[in-house]
Amino acid sequence: MEKKFPKDFLWGVAHASHQVEGNSKGNDWWDWEQQGKTKESSGWACDSWNRYPIDNKLAQELGCDAFRISFEWFRIEPKKGKFSKDGIEHYRKNLQDMKKRGLKRVVTLWHWTSPMWFVEDGGWHSEHSVEHFTSYCSKIIEELGDEIDMFITINEPRLPLNRGYLKGDFPPGKRNPKDFLKARKNMIKAHRECYDICKKKQPKIPVGITQFCNVFEYTNPKSFLWSFIKKMQRKYNWYFQDQIKDKQDFVGINYYFGMDISLLPPFAKMKNDEKKLTEMGWGVYPNGLFELLISAWGRYKKPVYIFENGISDEKDTRRAQYIKVHTEAVRDAIAQGANVKGYFYWSLLDNFEWLLGYSRKFGLCEIDKETMDRIPRKSYFEYQKLIAGYKGKSQKKRG
Ligand code: FCB
Repeated sequence: MEKKFPKDFLWGVAHASHQVEGNSKGNDWWDWEQQGKTKESSGWACDSWNRYPIDNKLAQELGCDAFRISFEWFRIEPKKGKFSKDGIEHYRKNLQDMKKRGLKRVVTLWHWTSPMWFVEDGGWHSEHSVEHFTSYCSKIIEELGDEIDMFITINEPRLPLNRGYLKGDFPPGKRNPKDFLKARKNMIKAHRECYDICKKKQPKIPVGITQFCNVFEYTNPKSFLWSFIKKMQRKYNWYFQDQIKDKQDFVGINYYFGMDISLLPPFAKMKNDEKKLTEMGWGVYPNGLFELLISAWGRYKKPVYIFENGISDEKDTRRAQYIKVHTEAVRDAIAQGANVKGYFYWSLLDNFEWLLGYSRKFGLCEIDKETMDRIPRKSYFEYQKLIAGYKGKSQKKRG
């Protein structure tokens, strides 16, 4: 079979509002930061609220077809039921700027941050949450639907639920299985209702969620116990998509790591640099991505997108190789028949990595904190070459 990417394959980069915009006073993560629950406060982040045209230009010059961003709910609805014209107009300008640069606009509605009024009204575990979220969604679709090419309602529901309601280190900081179950039910319901709202008002926009998945492998021996573990792992990875399978137009995957557990102590020798854990302590395992793509396509028969894949690599010695081996895994999955339609590197810029603050560096560009200048790393140019190579185009020079 031919090992090629389809013509309409989307090459992209991704980021999220709270991690790049700066000055997010008004959402729950900002509040969490002020309580000293994170390594540092997000502060001015990358100042992307003001510098979004620079970010868009960097994505354009990278050769991207698409940019995945997210909206910051409190900037759009600062008070319950009161929408901000300025907030909406700001995002409209951003989306129009992207379009002008030939970038498809992939928008996430909720990338983990909620307005304080939403939290004070009970948060995701409250019965009002669905109503609040769908009202926010309706407003966005009405006002900005014409400027959105793909729509992700919720980013990785599992993570904020596990961490916010069981472990308690993300807002709302609970350790309460009952509230966890309520919040999970509400998120699923909210997505299902938003899907219907979008289909009614803007039927052409593909809608879905994106989910963090990881994969463990044990190369020998393939025992009964091991197949049982694999089965459980698949159930776990696809839990949310299973709940919304009739209400999604694509399957979104965020994939960072997996592990061949035969590489773990006591099995491990880990001589090979590639196998070394990343700055996040994650194992580099492109086979896991291959396996997920095959599994996603087989399970749902809907186009599959990798909306996040990336590595924290301050010295930038491993990033280009990381991207290369993961995009090869994508290419191989396509050659095996999986309908994969896009790959988004996380992230264009070094940004605010939640509890870990600015200590992790996922960016193709670093940020000079004094001037807020974006400084492309070597891997930016490597990714640029790789995209151009896959597209069979000659590389454009950055102007
Ligand atoms: C994902 C999040 C994203 C970023 C990366 C590193 O789980 O969606 O915001 O933090 O991890």
